[in-house]
Amino acid sequence: MASLSAASRLCLRSAAKPAVPAVRALSSTAVQAAGAASYSSPFKGETTGSKIPNFGKYASKNSAAGNKLFSYFMVGSMGALTAAGAKSTVSEFLVNMSASADVLAMAKVEVDLNAIPEGKNVIIKWRGKPIFIRHRTESEIAEANKVDVASLRDPQNDDDRVQKPEWLIMVGVCTHLGCVPIGEAGDFGGWFCPCHGSHYDISGRIRKGPAPLNLEIPVYEFPEEGKLVIG
Ligand code: FES
Repeated sequence: MASLSAASRLCLRSAAKPAVPAVRALSSTAVQAAGAASYSSPFKGETTGSKIPNFGKYASKNSAAGNKLFSYFMVGSMGALTAAGAKSTVSEFLVNMSASADVLAMAKVEVDLNAIPEGKNVIIKWRGKPIFIRHRTESEIAEANKVDVASLRDPQNDDDRVQKPEWLIMVGVCTHLGCVPIGEAGDFGGWFCPCHGSHYDISGRIRKGPAPLNLEIPVYEFPEEGKLVIG
């Protein structure tokens, strides 16, 4: 019984083996036949293996020179547009940062000199600082000019400190530590700073005390007779 059973198992195996390739072959043939009907390869030439797709239908029909010209034109145009945009942005930023009209108006101060009699001081405010305006007399001008400039701590001729000898215009801030000196005071008939005892002469030059420099001369002009513009 045992040998009969083994023989029947062997017989069954040998009968079953050829059936698988036959099914596989049938299956692949069916797929190929179906694919050939509905699929066309995107690759040039060979139908098998990895190849570069053919993009010929997307390629430009123009000449190489024409394509280059178009590329250069586009790059140049984009560059010009970008530069114009950047310039506009920077310009607007700078305009925003610049001083407004009311601030610019404060930058200059106009003074009517006809209202200041000879031998008198006037103090005005300009950009937050006091400005001394002295209408000097003939004797004060002569006194300012007779000083030996070489003996001064900050040597400066009177002529170099004034545009018109009769008008002395200075920033009224002591060059020591920034106090405001008092006019018509001190040992030299000019200005005296009470903070630490600096004496300035009738030309605003330091003559005595700790201040190192003469009183500063601001930017000013006489646009017409009897008119002073500071700033
Ligand atoms: S601040 Fe004028 S003398 Fe010191």
